[in-house]
Amino acid sequence: MTLRFASYCPSAFTQPTWRSDTERRIDSDATETTRAFVIGIQIRGAAVSDAKVLAAFAERAFRDTYAVYNDPANIDAHVSQFLSVSRIKADLARNDSDFFVAEDSTGKIVGYAKLCASQPEPSVSSGSIELERIYVDRNQKGRGIGTALLKTVMAMAASKAFDALWLGVWQKNPDAIRFYEKLGFRIVGTHAFLVGKDEQLDWVMERALGEAIQD
Ligand SMILES: CC(C)(COP(=O)(O)OP(=O)(O)OC[C@H]1O[C@@H](n2cnc3c(N)ncnc32)[C@H](O)[C@@H]1OP(=O)(O)O)[C@@H](O)C(=O)NCCC(=O)NCCS
Repeated sequence: MTLRFASYCPSAFTQPTWRSDTERRIDSDATETTRAFVIGIQIRGAAVSDAKVLAAFAERAFRDTYAVYNDPANIDAHVSQFLSVSRIKADLARNDSDFFVAEDSTGKIVGYAKLCASQPEPSVSSGSIELERIYVDRNQKGRGIGTALLKTVMAMAASKAFDALWLGVWQKNPDAIRFYEKLGFRIVGTHAFLVGKDEQLDWVMERALGEAIQD
């Protein structure tokens, strides 16, 4: 079994399929036409200037989801290592990952997703790219925001000539597993994932990009 460290997203991706900043802007424009629409919600690619507000959202969403099930020290360690403003800022600047934010009509972030050309995962197909994170505000779940973010991520991945999306989901997160299954992901393997010092078991799930999500 592979042991994955949270948010590991190396620049040394085997194929130089990622793009320059100019291409990134073009690709973001391209997703405008394909992104899903939820009433009152806009989805856009995030920039370095979003780091502070995105880090605050990411920390809150992570704690909302996992704090109740985990040792506080491990949650704090994960937050400080991967969800600090400086870390999110650095990740936003990378060429091998993309963040998307969902905002309400006031511009408040209500969800985000991260697509990442990560280390090879043995159980997934070679043309697969990782959906590393997807989180929706706890008070906004069930409105279709997660689906809209996923559609946007799928469009971006397809525009990069990837043909599948994979992810790791904690085996003790049945709600997310059902969400992914509903949207066409299937379990293809397992891997271990470190939260602080706690080694947790994830399902690895994958979905082909060829088949669109039905509205
Ligand atoms: C998982 C998550 C991203 C889904 O986002 P969302 O906006 O709530 O999902 P949507 O409203 O787009 O739901 C899409 C479909 O999945 C279904 N679904 C969502 N959550 C579900 C659940 N807990 N159980 C069963 N079905 C679920 C919805 O019913 C919907 O199907 P429908 O269109 O037939 O009603 C969101 O709930 C979340 O942020 N959870 C906490 C963070 C988390 O676990 N992230 C994943 C880490 S791997």
